[in-house]
Amino acid sequence: MGEYKKHWWGLIITLIIAFILLGWGGFEIYRTTPPIPDKFVDSSGQTLITKQDILDGQSAWQSTGGMQLGSVYGHGAYQAPDWTADWLHRELVAWLNIKAQADYGKAFDELTSIEKMGLQQQIKEEYRGSSMGSDNTVVLSDTRIAAINQVAPYYIDLYGDTPELASSRESFAMKNNTLPDLTARQNLAHFYFWTAWTSSANRPGTVATYTNNWPHEPLIDNVPTAENVMWSIASVVFLLAGIGLLIWGWAFLHKQEEDDIKLTVPKQDPLSLIELTPSQKALAKYAFLVVALFVVQIFLGGFVAHYTIEGQDFYGIPVSDFIPYSLARTWHIQSALFWIATAFLAIGLFVTPIIHGGKDPKYQKLGVDLLWVALIIVVVGSYIGQYLAIAHIMPAHLNFWFGHQGYEFIDLGRFWQILKWVGVLFWLVLMLRGVMAGFKGEGDKNLLFIFVASVVCVGLFYGSGLFYGEHTPIAIMEYWRWWVVHLWVEGFFEVFATVSIAFIFYNLGLVSKRIATGSSIASAALFLLGGVPGTFHHLYFTGTTTPIMAIGASFSALEVVPLIVLGYEGYEHWSMQRHAKWMERLKWPVLCFVAVAFWNMLGAGVFGFMINPPISLFYLQGLNTTPVHAHAALFGVYGFLALGFVLLIVRYLRPEYRFSDKLMKTGFWGLNLGLLLMIFTSLLPIGIYQAYASITEGLWYARSEGFLQQDFLETLRWVRTFGDVVFIIGGVSIALQVVKLVFGQSPKHPKHDTPITD
Ligand code: HEM
Ligand SMILES: [Fe+2]
Repeated sequence: MGEYKKHWWGLIITLIIAFILLGWGGFEIYRTTPPIPDKFVDSSGQTLITKQDILDGQSAWQSTGGMQLGSVYGHGAYQAPDWTADWLHRELVAWLNIKAQADYGKAFDELTSIEKMGLQQQIKEEYRGSSMGSDNTVVLSDTRIAAINQVAPYYIDLYGDTPELASSRESFAMKNNTLPDLTARQNLAHFYFWTAWTSSANRPGTVATYTNNWPHEPLIDNVPTAENVMWSIASVVFLLAGIGLLIWGWAFLHKQEEDDIKLTVPKQDPLSLIELTPSQKALAKYAFLVVALFVVQIFLGGFVAHYTIEGQDFYGIPVSDFIPYSLARTWHIQSALFWIATAFLAIGLFVTPIIHGGKDPKYQKLGVDLLWVALIIVVVGSYIGQYLAIAHIMPAHLNFWFGHQGYEFIDLGRFWQILKWVGVLFWLVLMLRGVMAGFKGEGDKNLLFIFVASVVCVGLFYGSGLFYGEHTPIAIMEYWRWWVVHLWVEGFFEVFATVSIAFIFYNLGLVSKRIATGSSIASAALFLLGGVPGTFHHLYFTGTTTPIMAIGASFSALEVVPLIVLGYEGYEHWSMQRHAKWMERLKWPVLCFVAVAFWNMLGAGVFGFMINPPISLFYLQGLNTTPVHAHAALFGVYGFLALGFVLLIVRYLRPEYRFSDKLMKTGFWGLNLGLLLMIFTSLLPIGIYQAYASITEGLWYARSEGFLQQDFLETLRWVRTFGDVVFIIGGVSIALQVVKLVFGQSPKHPKHDTPITD
């Protein structure tokens, strides 16, 4: 620990507090998960829907791609409705009409306002009070049963191929016969009913529904709870206090490290003096895989965006029978995760031999080659599984294991998920064998230790996605799913990103070891304090209790603190270029790191916080404001980081080449500009327009066919094409550059980089 004792203790205490909160929240979620009643019965006790029907419905929903087609509890895709909010609203409207007919012989709309108020009071009492008895049974009124019987056929038909609903299917980007089997469709309806029940029945002993009153639905007073408003205000206060304290702390505690002034930048790029090892050379194919998957991903992205305009066709060609929206969207997201992860694996494998004294550990090249093959197997295997699942060629009972889990970001079948984890663990072994050697001998090992720790966490924490199964209740599944997604992107990746950039700049002789170490440990503590308990910002409305919302809102506000002040770090990285003449060769990877800091501020910090206070997310969950944030943060931060890593690797693999300024300028600026255009000319305006609809009418309306098919919104979706094309041009240029370097013939007169010195 040495001189960093205080730093380390800070980090250890942070981790203890953070994981106690996350773990306690887990117990709370297991304890209070919305129940699946054994049965729903009528007033005479006759069974209508059983637990098994609902669980079978959950499986059927998963086999359609689940969250990749519409959403449940606001989580998923944005073109089709949110099925929870949609079912609830349809059922409530049906109830009001049936009851109006029974009591007054008229439709609800024809009643006087006093008559309406009477029924509205009744519906509220009935739905809010529809709790489960001690015999695990819920009794439904005859009116409600009639309402359910009116609503269910709509879903059963929508997921089939009845011609009357063809245009709705097109609006929702659903293929015909999304779920061919009739029984499966009936069960799917039971599952949607159950999610609507949890979001309309009060949690026993409280005045809020199981989902903290989400979704907004004025008909039964589903409005934000008092706690929601209070914790939202608290979260803004915590954010301001956090930013203030950070600046005070930095100003008073930060010693302008003399080391940096003493630091003499090497005359030559230290890394270019190292002879590349066979395992490092073997990374060229990783670079290729990264850009190949990147290109596949962005073309699929354009394709998915087009489905939001022509729901089943691509410029008139009926493509949805082969690659429907749900499949294209699955592959789009999964390719992103794969290429970003591959780049991270590659940079780890690139630095391993450097730490191992410039040599490969035994059989390292073989390991690197095998891992690459394994990656291809997982990518191709999981994609085929998903195709077979969504085409309903795969038998239903195999779906969860080999087809489509239906859970966004962990869409791949369980078998492929395990294989992927084994691959990540294998990577960990390959790295640790080399890196451990770095701990032998003299010298300060703190920086190495924090680097290794972040790598170990990235490797191990993917495993938490195995803690739920096919029939795990959705609130519990969501807890573990966000352990993977959130803890990766807002926890360990954030640490890995900071530490690995510091580690690289230290190896290049551009920052002192002391500064790299101190800032790495301190920022790890800062990121994890907010990031770990901040996981709960994904779970405000997935069937959890108020403390989960409170912890989520407070700590995720702290996450934003370091991100908002990253401008300074961006500038530091940018000025690295001027430290030495040989840095010219690293201009583009360094600019990618500057972009990482910029998008961390805008995409993760600003757009993340925009949707983050519970009061925001109450209305915005499931609207286009989420992809604003998701694109700006996931591509902006980790996309650019991954590209920076790959460019860095190929630059050393092919020292005789220079980056083409033309390709790189088009690539780098195309990606940045395309992302800005996509967000500011399309996604954000759509999201804001939807937000107004969600606040005034309810979520069901903001995601309804009638609302989304307005000309104005359709035009805004068209406008997105422009930003998408600029982005695609950027992406293809970078890919072309990498391919040229990986496959290019060596020039006859190599412009070797060693002559470039100060
Ligand atoms: C680089 C860091 C980050 C990345 C890569 C990232 C990425 C994502 C992704 C991919 C989603 C899911 C979108 C979807 O379901 O379609 C998401 C959701 C969300 N993010 Fe982030 N995020 C980051 C940082 C943050 C930060 C700092 C905050 C705020 C403190 C934040 C707040 C949220 C919230 C509240 C949601 C839920 C939105 C919803 O379910 O509708 N994120 N993020
Ligand atoms: Fe998150």
